[in-house]
Amino acid sequence: MHSQPSAIRVRDFSRQARGLARAARVIFAAVTAALALLSTQLGASRLNAANSAADPVGAAMPPGATTALATSLGVRFVSGSSSTLLIERDGKTYVVNLADKTIQLKDSPSASPGGLAAAAAMHASAQSVPSGAKTFADNCASCHGEGGKGMRAMKTPDFTLPSVQAALSGELVTKTIREGKPGTAMPAWAGKLSDEQIDAVASFVKTLGAGTKPAQAAPGAEPGQMASVYTPADDYLFSMPTGRRLDRHGLYFNFTHRFAFNPTFTGTGTVNTLFGMDGFSISSFGLRFGVTDKLSISAYRSPSLIGRPIELGVAYNFADEHNGQPLSAQVRASVDGQGNFSKNFTTNLELIVSRSVTRRAQLYFDPTVSLQDRRLIQKPGSLASAPPDMPGFNTFYIGVGGALDIRPSVALVAEAFPTLVNGPELGIHRPAFAFGIQKRVLRHAFTLGFSNSPGTVVSQRAGTRATFVGQPSADTPSGLFIGFDLMRQIY
Ligand code: HEC
Repeated sequence: MHSQPSAIRVRDFSRQARGLARAARVIFAAVTAALALLSTQLGASRLNAANSAADPVGAAMPPGATTALATSLGVRFVSGSSSTLLIERDGKTYVVNLADKTIQLKDSPSASPGGLAAAAAMHASAQSVPSGAKTFADNCASCHGEGGKGMRAMKTPDFTLPSVQAALSGELVTKTIREGKPGTAMPAWAGKLSDEQIDAVASFVKTLGAGTKPAQAAPGAEPGQMASVYTPADDYLFSMPTGRRLDRHGLYFNFTHRFAFNPTFTGTGTVNTLFGMDGFSISSFGLRFGVTDKLSISAYRSPSLIGRPIELGVAYNFADEHNGQPLSAQVRASVDGQGNFSKNFTTNLELIVSRSVTRRAQLYFDPTVSLQDRRLIQKPGSLASAPPDMPGFNTFYIGVGGALDIRPSVALVAEAFPTLVNGPELGIHRPAFAFGIQKRVLRHAFTLGFSNSPGTVVSQRAGTRATFVGQPSADTPSGLFIGFDLMRQIY
């Protein structure tokens, strides 16, 4: 609250400044128009005078002819001045200053450009200030939908929702329109639209909430709180799903790299590998496809070192904070089979719930049941052979994670997967965890992180390097290794 007065002052000041700029432009336009009128009239009458006097065009007219013309046009020359003249119109006299390009009502009480300019300004504002609705339809509706109702494919909010409006102050709207939103598709409009158009379209955006039921904005609800929705940049924090909704018919690549080869597969002895950078990366690759804007399917494969699983999944988003719901939620079912989907099948059921803390941060919970999960084993040197048959255990873990934007397009991410049921049976003694930094670039994302878990499919992500090497003590800080994720939306 205490920042309000200065905000108002700033707003008033910038409004005044814009008002002045607008007035100046209007005056300039009025003068230009008046001069153009004057010069055509003068030109025409000079031509007449020239014809009647048979004088070459451009030669000085006889003084008598000029005086008669001036009188008929209502133009009076100011004695002693080479830069001003007087025009009479509708019983009023205006002083036209050709040097400064100003017009003043003669005997106006105000020293500043008075009556005419003010009248012209009023006239102009009634006539030429652009309509916000038209500016919106012409420039914004392609991404924001007709009437600003938002487009899922473009990930644009529904401006008609009271919750969305509550989070958008007038200043924020104007600033966003001027400067755009870095890291998103929202372009900057300063320079492309005039100040008047930006003001008009900003006011238009603010009026869009007016038509909706006020009942939805509960009295006493903290404005901005529920409406501040975070949109994750990627389908993963690092290995944990964010459960974000995919675009209908959108196709996405997920490429994950974990430099876990030495730490995980050659045991604890080799630590001089700079977070695994001396070894190979385990590179898993997958595709996601949005069948509708809520239903998506995925296929994902990890390499031989890690049992060569292929995971097939289907996900359904049944709640979304962007629609004013308190949480975003997705259910996902997947089956993975090791040895290229030939054996050791595990079925996974996940509920991925996220909740924005502000528009800059989001928390994630991923309770996961894995039926017949298999222990991760260290199998160097057997790239070609099929993974051995393994007994299955039903496990339950709850992934917990968060993302926090430190810049408009850069987030810190962190996650952990504590296994609550049957961890020891799978050789899991400590939670797998990871942390990293995520950069969004339009519809793409890059995440650089550190982790103690080489696995990225659902059934493997809760296991750590200690699980692989079969040594509970192997989960040391030096056992962290580096990795990165690439997410690209192809279309
Ligand atoms: C190329 C697509 C595109 C165009 C064109 C576009 N926008 Fe946007 N706009 C977006 C996207 C995407 C977002 C959401 C960014 C985010 O928060 O993830 C957005 C966000 C906004 C926001 C902020 C909403 C919020 O919750 O932060 C405002 C206000 C806005 N746009 C107004 C406009 C106006 C006004 C125009 C036309 C002058 C316009 N946009 C044109 C794509 C576009």
